[in-house]
Amino acid sequence: MSRTAFLTALPKVELHVHLEGSIAPDVALKLARRNGVRLPGADGGPQGLRAAYVFRSFRDFLRLYIGVSRCLVTVQDIRDVVVDLARRHAAAGVRYAEVTFTPLTHRARGITADVLWAGLATGRAEALRQYGVVHRWVFDVVRSMPHQAEATVDFALGMDARDEGSVAGLGVGGPEADHYPMEAIARAFERGRAAGFASLPHAGEGAGAASIWTAVRSLGASRLGHGVRCLEDPTLVDTLRERAITLEVCPSSNVVLGLFPTIAAHPLPDLLAAGLRVTLGSDDPPMFGTDLLTEYERCIDAFGWSDDVVRSIVRTGIEDSFAPQPLKAEMLRDLDAPG
Ligand code: ADE
Ligand code: ZN
Repeated sequence: MSRTAFLTALPKVELHVHLEGSIAPDVALKLARRNGVRLPGADGGPQGLRAAYVFRSFRDFLRLYIGVSRCLVTVQDIRDVVVDLARRHAAAGVRYAEVTFTPLTHRARGITADVLWAGLATGRAEALRQYGVVHRWVFDVVRSMPHQAEATVDFALGMDARDEGSVAGLGVGGPEADHYPMEAIARAFERGRAAGFASLPHAGEGAGAASIWTAVRSLGASRLGHGVRCLEDPTLVDTLRERAITLEVCPSSNVVLGLFPTIAAHPLPDLLAAGLRVTLGSDDPPMFGTDLLTEYERCIDAFGWSDDVVRSIVRTGIEDSFAPQPLKAEMLRDLDAPG
């Protein structure tokens, strides 16, 4: 069996992928045309847009990300991108995904909550019907917009009321820096957690250990987006290990955004050696020139992972996901099935 066939056949989950950042260039251009939105490089078609995915800084990346986000205007647009992500997930053997979406970015430019809820709900239903892929949502707050936190929780509650069980948790994304006050987000997360939403913030990507401590202590994180800078503080590493707080590691994202020069220089082996729980994610796949299978392939190439190591990473993702229990059991059974 080829390596790609082996990796595809594994029953995988993807726990760190942004819906807006997952939009394939050809789909983004179709939506941009439909809605009269200008995208960089658009005159050169999908290759032209792809060529614009070069980032000198995180801010630079966010500019492009927000540009692509503006292509989502109608129920159909949102439905289309969810279904297209499910198609790619199914082709790669991803059976379950927790997909991050930033509702207030869209609300702030006048898209109604009803349009967002309807697009997400119809897309999710279609993803299951056409491709058998189960998606659950993570609604994230932009860290620099803490005043949007309560409305993000309200949006999550509204989504859950329309499509029960569709919301896995709440996230925090965007620029990570010390000077953004976290109190308002912490209060909103407390309300969200009381309603049953998991706390799944980004931390330890653009900032270091102090930011991860805040995510753990003030937000009650059950997993961390990235978290790769935890190694700066051995006490923090002990805490993450003791509390079984999983790291959603996205190696290509970290390299493209300049955290590490190459995948081979990524601290992923040190995180595993420290006994931390790690799952792989693609973050914003076309923008970072990757997808989940490619992340596995690059790690195998860089770190020489055996099939057993690959299986153990897949297992951690399944175990630490918020997949419905029967689906979890089925994936674990298939992971352990001989051959
Ligand atoms: N939103 C999309 N991708 C992100 C990343 N890598 N970090 C923080 N926020 C994001
Ligand atoms: Zn992310």
